[in-house]
Formats: sequence, C-alpha cells, structure tokens
Amino acid sequence: MKPEKWVEVCALDALAPEEAMRFDHEGRSFAIIRSSDGDYFAIDGHCSHEKVHLSGGIVDGNIIECPKHFGTFDYRTGEARSLPACIDLRRYELKVDSDAVFIKI
Ligand code: FES
Repeated sequence: MKPEKWVEVCALDALAPEEAMRFDHEGRSFAIIRSSDGDYFAIDGHCSHEKVHLSGGIVDGNIIECPKHFGTFDYRTGEARSLPACIDLRRYELKVDSDAVFIKI
C-alpha cells in the first residue's frame, strides 16, 4: 500500500459555492465539491450505482445528486442517501494552504 500524501487539486477560488468538479490523479478519480458555506469536500468520483461521474451532478445543500438516475449522497460523509444509490462512497480529507486546495490520498 502506498503511503498517503497531499496532492494539489485546484485554486481556492476554482469553484463557486454549490459547484462540483472532477479531479483525476494516478488513475483515480474524485468529485470535489464546494458547499454553500465555501468549504471544500472530496468523495469518490464515480457513483456507487453505475460508473457515472458525480462531478456532473447537482449540488443542493449537503447533497450531490447523481446525473444519471438521481441517487443522492451526502458529500460531507460519502453516505448514500437515496435509491438507487445504496452503497456509501469514500470521503477524503482536504486542506487549504496558500490559496490552494489539497487532497490527502
Ligand atoms: S448511476 Fe448514479 S444513481 Fe444510477
């Protein structure tokens, strides 16, 4: 198993509140989400129902909605919140340093 490391994702102002973006690194894909409060969160990029990227989903409150079948996840925890999504996603730690966002992977 590789040791965890911090990897730069984007500038702090890259996303507006309630926007999401895709971030790929070394063959892995993540969904980066900015809450209405301006905080950043990261979860697995692909929906746990089918392999659809969540970065194209709608962010509303603490929820991101999958763009394909509209299953929902709490992006703060990765918890699946509504069918057909029923398997939780992994959540990743983020930090802000020097006006950039970093993910621990
Ligand atoms: S692919 Fe996401 S809910 Fe079906």
